[in-house]
Amino acid sequence: MTKTVLVLNGPNLNLLGTREPEIYGSETLASIEEACRKRGEGLGLDVEFRQSNTEGELVDWVQEARDKHDALIVNAGAYTHTSVALLDALLATEIPKIEVHLSNINQREEFRHHSYVSKAADGMICGLGGFGYELALESLARTLGTLKEE
Ligand code: DQA
Repeated sequence: MTKTVLVLNGPNLNLLGTREPEIYGSETLASIEEACRKRGEGLGLDVEFRQSNTEGELVDWVQEARDKHDALIVNAGAYTHTSVALLDALLATEIPKIEVHLSNINQREEFRHHSYVSKAADGMICGLGGFGYELALESLARTLGTLKEE
């Protein structure tokens, strides 16, 4: 049976493609969504992709995933480094969770080295651009047992 993965994107990720391309590349969020949808199809995963600039909305969506989704991928943008509210919502959501960042946050400013999201995530992928989301989907397919070959 197909399982569903909710992919959450935080503030300013709607600007991908034009936002600091030397750091984030030229991919848009729409092109990453498209790639995830396609990759999900091959992995037996139904991918639902969302973006918000609002912390509370992201918290609401994480809570929604408790009943409606089988796994989460989270790129919380700057809230990664600030949001205890998001951490608490993630800790309360007992489904597989993977944190993704386009850039390598460990090579950047000191304040980006700490992630609240990491305290709740099963794993973290950073520095591989939009491809990181696809890798997260592959890992979740294995965890959720949707891989056809296995
Ligand atoms: C980001 C890294 C964060 O530090 C930053 O605030 C973002 C994007 C990334 O995907 O590399 O908005 O999460």
